[in-house]
Amino acid sequence: MPVTKSDFPDDFVWGTATAAYQIEGATREDGRGVSIWDRFTERPGAIADGSNGEPADEHYHRWAEDIDLMAGLGVGAYRFSISWPRIQANGTGPANPEGIAFYRRLAEALLEKGITPYATLYHWDLPQALEDRGGWLDRETADRFAEYARLVVSELGDVVKHWITLNEPWCSSFLSYAGGDHAPGLQVGTTASHAAHHLLLGHARAVPLIRAACPDGTVGITLNLYSVRAASDDPADADAARRIDGLQNRFFLDPLFAGGYPADVLADLGETAWFEEHAAGDAAELAVPVDFLGVNYYSRHTTRAGAPRTGGSNPGSEFVEMIDTGAPKTEMGWEIHPDGLVDVLQMAAAAKPGLPLLVTENGAAYPDRVEDDGSVHDPERQAYLESHIAACADALAAGVPLRGYFIWSMMDNFEWAFGYTRRFGIVHVDYSTQQRTVKDSGAWVRSFLAG
Ligand code: FCB
Repeated sequence: MPVTKSDFPDDFVWGTATAAYQIEGATREDGRGVSIWDRFTERPGAIADGSNGEPADEHYHRWAEDIDLMAGLGVGAYRFSISWPRIQANGTGPANPEGIAFYRRLAEALLEKGITPYATLYHWDLPQALEDRGGWLDRETADRFAEYARLVVSELGDVVKHWITLNEPWCSSFLSYAGGDHAPGLQVGTTASHAAHHLLLGHARAVPLIRAACPDGTVGITLNLYSVRAASDDPADADAARRIDGLQNRFFLDPLFAGGYPADVLADLGETAWFEEHAAGDAAELAVPVDFLGVNYYSRHTTRAGAPRTGGSNPGSEFVEMIDTGAPKTEMGWEIHPDGLVDVLQMAAAAKPGLPLLVTENGAAYPDRVEDDGSVHDPERQAYLESHIAACADALAAGVPLRGYFIWSMMDNFEWAFGYTRRFGIVHVDYSTQQRTVKDSGAWVRSFLAG
């Protein structure tokens, strides 16, 4: 039996998602400052096609058309992110009225169409001026983030009621400061864990300020959780799985919900002493209550203990390899495992029993083509979405308090280090004309949501 909307509660939230740097373009307009992604994309070889956030989807100017498209698909919610350097060009000082005005127009237009805004405050576009002062390796950045969050929510809290502090802090710490694959493109090894701590501290300091500025709203954080399995019964492979589950899941879930960082992961990192000295006193603050946890899910990891290596985004566990199990993959090379979504939702539900969960991102990249008749046939993406929505229904049936699901992405966009070479949208974007075309998967979403 195919999954249907009636498998979900009536008040289940159905949305699509995007992020500022990936869609907005207009990187030099209306007082926007330089972000770490503007700078990182200038580095030769950093981005697969040498591109950057210009023009992206020109959403900064085409937002009204994009909201009409969403309304046409029948989605009830839209998760977008706010560009920090549009609000504070250099990461400090008063809010830029033009930046605020853009997001106000957007939120008001969404509300007019009956679409509920969900705003992410940090989807990776740190003002470069703060990076120049140490970025997330500097504890001070946590306070800068909290102040930025306070400014935004006190300006927009009347029209945006749902706030996500951080998107995927694993990516903005380990992938960005150890792997160097994302901005700012540093490779500081296990010291990247300090960036993770300062991100979580920024979240923790922002939450009470967001609550004060928007008392009738909700606030949460989004993590990219992975279902991690060992490639074999070999204890070395099991230990590899423990390490990756530790770095990617528990290193974030535990301080938020279990009162502190996992000791085994700090030992793997060789960072126990630093955390004792600099983070132990923050434990109570990090556990600040939230109203929901956002979970982003794309794939599953199967780990084995490989040969010693250096570098990469799993510092301290460099020898761990992810193996190809032979399962079908999306164009990202990510294996397709809908059951892994059930796993991570159960993991999240176990981390904080009763806490409402949202799937804040899920989707797939495939090489799409616009046919002569203007259609885009993407049956694999539709199948991916359908199987993962069915997994959400399974998780609900198993008692997981899942309250919503957001498709990544509303439309094709700048896919970070992959530039424009990967398409995740349910709406196709022709970057030379900015023509939007609803893909077959988008039409399927429309009929699914129509019930
Ligand atoms: C997630 C990011 C999102 C998008 C998807 C494919 O890690 O949050 O911006 O790039 O991956």
